[in-house]
Amino acid sequence: MPSNAVGVDIGTRTIAVAEVKSARGGEVVTNFGGVELPQDAVREGEILDVPAVSSALRELLSSAKVGSKRVWLGVANQRVVVRQVDLPWLEEKELRQSLQYQVQEYIPIPVEDAELDVHIVDEFTSDEGERMQRLLLVAAHRDMVSAHVEAATQAGLKPIGVDLNPFSVLRAMGDDRQFDQGSQVLIDVGAGVTNIIVHAHGVPSFVRILVLGGDDMTRALGAGLSLPPEEAEAAKRQAVVGADSDTAGRIVTEQADAFIDEVRSSLDYYQAQTGSTQLSGVVLTGGGAALPGLTDRLADTLRLPVEIGNPFDRYKAKNTVYGDDDLARVGPSLATAIGLALGGLE
Ligand SMILES: Nc1ncnc2c1ncn2[C@@H]1O[C@H](COP(=O)(O)OP(=O)(O)OP(=O)(O)O)[C@@H](O)[C@H]1O
Ligand SMILES: [Mg+2]
Repeated sequence: MPSNAVGVDIGTRTIAVAEVKSARGGEVVTNFGGVELPQDAVREGEILDVPAVSSALRELLSSAKVGSKRVWLGVANQRVVVRQVDLPWLEEKELRQSLQYQVQEYIPIPVEDAELDVHIVDEFTSDEGERMQRLLLVAAHRDMVSAHVEAATQAGLKPIGVDLNPFSVLRAMGDDRQFDQGSQVLIDVGAGVTNIIVHAHGVPSFVRILVLGGDDMTRALGAGLSLPPEEAEAAKRQAVVGADSDTAGRIVTEQADAFIDEVRSSLDYYQAQTGSTQLSGVVLTGGGAALPGLTDRLADTLRLPVEIGNPFDRYKAKNTVYGDDDLARVGPSLATAIGLALGGLE
């Protein structure tokens, strides 16, 4: 098992990096940082401009002083799907080896063009008495994954693995101290992508990737108030979801409600699935979670407790110049990168 690992989260808006180390009292975050990407280098989580991403990444690596070139990369966009699949039980090694021959009917991507991965959710006996297993099957378009690998390689890194962002969010944020029964919902609200993952005691049971995020609200504000992007971004951070006394408030409320509707229908879909359990609470991460009033609106609609999560509550930051307030501010946007790095320690 490696004693340290680096996660690189190439998002729609920002690249975030985190380095973690196993220490006696648990894992610690030894390094982290972020850099903003130029417009349209990444859209809805897909890299469009590899050179632009790799040069931003180079800049970030030198400023964040990351010690290792061996990195884990994350993906989440429309070119990767996650499906719940029930298959006859096999040893995990055999299952992985035979996956490509068993799953074509469940995924919309030809298996020869796909990178496959699998998470075991549960084991059960079918009505016919056969031993079965319930899986979360991940299938990603190989060329989409290659663009991520290429961007990292051109920045001088050696990618050693790729994982799906919602699984990283689960590693960084999944918490069962706060609930005994039912499942917890983790939602990472990014600029162009929102990742939803439902889990109980760290075992995922549902994943949904929505190509929606904070930048949709910025665009709506820009259009509604005739503001250029930077001013629309500033206006968004001042606006409050649920406040209808000003135009900006009305626009963000309308946008937030459309967003919450999508989240709600994903969770309704989960709850209609076999094997689903009651939901007990929601933790939000990602930069978009900071939108003032979003947590309350979501809590009212879903009728669940909703809070903003900070990975630094569990994984301490070492040797940092940041105080607790700064860590609480940047922590939610680092959940994916920290979780990716934690995966590298496993
Ligand atoms: N204080 C704030 N109030 C409202 N929104 C904010 C605030 N801070 C950041 N955001 C929004 O968070 C979003 C960026 O979040 P994040 O850095 O998690 O995205 P990303 O990882 O680059 O993209 P993605 O995960 O969608 O691919 C932007 O839409 C930004 O406007
Ligand atoms: Mg992100």
